[in-house]
Amino acid sequence: MYSKEIKTAQKHLGKLLQAQFERAERLKQKEEPLDYGSLDTIEIGIAGGDGIGPFLAAKAREVLEYLLAEEIKAGKVNLKNIEGLTIENRIKTGRAIPPIVLDELKQCHVILKGPTTTPDSGYDLPNIESANVAMRRALDLFANVRPVKIPQEKIDWVFFRENTEGAYVLGSQGIELQGGLALDFTVTTRPGTERIIRAAFQYARENKRTRVTAVTKANVIKTTDGQFLEIAREVAQEYPEIEFDDWYIDIMTAKLIDTSRRADFQVFVLPNLYGDILTDEAAQFQGGVGTAGSANLGTRYAMFEAIHGSAPRMVKEGRAEYADPSSMLRAGAMLLEHIGYQEKARRLDLALDVCGLYERKVALTGRPDGATGQEFAAYLRETLANPRLEEVWAKYQ
Ligand code: IPM
Ligand code: MG
Repeated sequence: MYSKEIKTAQKHLGKLLQAQFERAERLKQKEEPLDYGSLDTIEIGIAGGDGIGPFLAAKAREVLEYLLAEEIKAGKVNLKNIEGLTIENRIKTGRAIPPIVLDELKQCHVILKGPTTTPDSGYDLPNIESANVAMRRALDLFANVRPVKIPQEKIDWVFFRENTEGAYVLGSQGIELQGGLALDFTVTTRPGTERIIRAAFQYARENKRTRVTAVTKANVIKTTDGQFLEIAREVAQEYPEIEFDDWYIDIMTAKLIDTSRRADFQVFVLPNLYGDILTDEAAQFQGGVGTAGSANLGTRYAMFEAIHGSAPRMVKEGRAEYADPSSMLRAGAMLLEHIGYQEKARRLDLALDVCGLYERKVALTGRPDGATGQEFAAYLRETLANPRLEEVWAKYQ
């Protein structure tokens, strides 16, 4: 019984395994990270994406142009819009990232990306893979770094989400068999796990953080999460000055709402899917996913994005201009910091704190009863131009 079905599935699985072995081999070849200081011109690509994305990207571009005015004039930095990373184009080409767009992305050093629509199997659209997931894989952006800060509560978290493996790497290549038997796959590799765990510990060391917490479900997902945890314990030995502990994802989601304990956590490292889920929860405490930026870091490339989606509902209801650009602007600050403009990044973060968290003279609600993204961006520009920004910010600490 079912022998034909099983044979087809085995063949499919064989192909997946072959590709995963090859990927793991590639990961063993270590590359030197790109040194932005050595480049004549840093190419920054700005891809608007779908839905509210282009609205937010336009605001982010304005702010970057303002902060990098001198560097742009001197030819040290070039901002380039990358068109065509849209759901329409992806459907037309049948590819998660149209090849022409991917070529353009690869000519940049860093990318600021707006949200892109990801159809799921229930959509009225072909079930193509997420552009985010495809880009993370195509550019090998293995570390998804997502900070969440709530100064009043002394919360200062940084999540290191593994970004190229886990439940995502074969997320579009599960097997559906007769009778409704469906299988998906989770994959971890030793080099893929080691590099994200090292990135988290290294960050902790360089930023004087004293604790790293791994989050898994190794008590149930024993093989893949089990290996992730085992490697985390091994790598922790190389960082004796940093306290290491581990939690299961279920209790971790509970601990994040435990106000008596949550400020004790500092740096988290976790597999892809748990990282996806936990960072939305964490961002909600800070004011919602519209307020959190995210860095997708690899060795050669880096991409910065909002952690929210493209909000097609807002566009359909004519509310796109009311979308909050803060998340993309936070991503812009992370981009600036990554390419070596720490002071500009810090100023942008301070200004976003003042405008979005403290003063809130121009408040966004996502609806016509609140401000538009344009009004918020103008307020932000004004705040950035204030020579006393530091003092304004310090007042609220
Ligand atoms: C994110 C998003 C993506 C993900 C979606 C859009 C595929 O939720 O960046 O967190 O699941 O990674
Ligand atoms: Mg997510």
